[in-house]
Amino acid sequence: MISVQNLERRYARRRVDALRGVSFEVEAGQRFGIVGESGSGKSTLVRLLAALDRPTAGTVSFRGQRIDHLPERKLRFLRRELQIVFQDPMGSLDPRMRVRDIVSEPLGRRSPARVAELLTAVGLPEDAAMRYPHQFSGGQRQRISIARALAPNPSVLVADEPVSALDVTVRAQILDLLNRLVDEFSLTLVFVSHDLGVVRRVCDRVAVMRRGEIVEMGDVEQVYGAPQHEYTRELLAAAPNLPAELARLQGGTDA
Ligand SMILES: Nc1ncnc2c1ncn2[C@@H]1O[C@H](COP(=O)(O)OP(=O)(O)O)[C@@H](O)[C@H]1O
Ligand SMILES: [Mg+2]
Repeated sequence: MISVQNLERRYARRRVDALRGVSFEVEAGQRFGIVGESGSGKSTLVRLLAALDRPTAGTVSFRGQRIDHLPERKLRFLRRELQIVFQDPMGSLDPRMRVRDIVSEPLGRRSPARVAELLTAVGLPEDAAMRYPHQFSGGQRQRISIARALAPNPSVLVADEPVSALDVTVRAQILDLLNRLVDEFSLTLVFVSHDLGVVRRVCDRVAVMRRGEIVEMGDVEQVYGAPQHEYTRELLAAAPNLPAELARLQGGTDA
């Protein structure tokens, strides 16, 4: 579905090499996690996957087609097929628009039936359609962004720190929702987080990023259960929920 080869992104003005030789593939139906601390290049990578930015070197392909240097008019398919959910729904939802219009905007037309269907899918009441973003809680606003992302029936959902602004209980609910939607809509998921526990909950494969490089990549069970890279071990050791997670991976009972 997605193939990235030797991707480099240098922010010349600040002389930052945000991505250095990043390569990976995401197969259809996969739940691909990208984990790494703040500043490791995750959001830079997301922008390149979505062709919102151009690489300094390397390639990004979507279903076998290079997208890294296509002009905007040739990216219309990608603007439907790949949707992004961001960390901060308040920043990505227009406060002056009703939920109805926010959710149907990517469709380019009004469709009350489709809006109702999407709101139901993300667990919001149908009367949410007439309300405005500020009338909802943080978790509900993230549900609105997810509904909007699903509107054009994408094949790939990219989520960049989608639960990092939410508190623990709500976070679990949104992760469960994402899990359910990925199945229900047969999505391919690219899930970005600085939080290993969160990635563990939704992903089957994971790439660990550090200073613009992927230092380790593999099945979640393998990377979390038997990390090969020193940095992955450090990240795991710093994860607050590590004992319970590790016990489960290693076949023990939940603490
Ligand atoms: N638009 C930009 N201009 C200059 N530097 C940037 C820009 N975006 C990100 N960076 C720098 O690139 C590095 C990676 O940032 P980012 O991709 O946002 O990391 P992450 O999402 O993992 O926190 C950081 O050093 C950041 O300061
Ligand atoms: Mg980021």
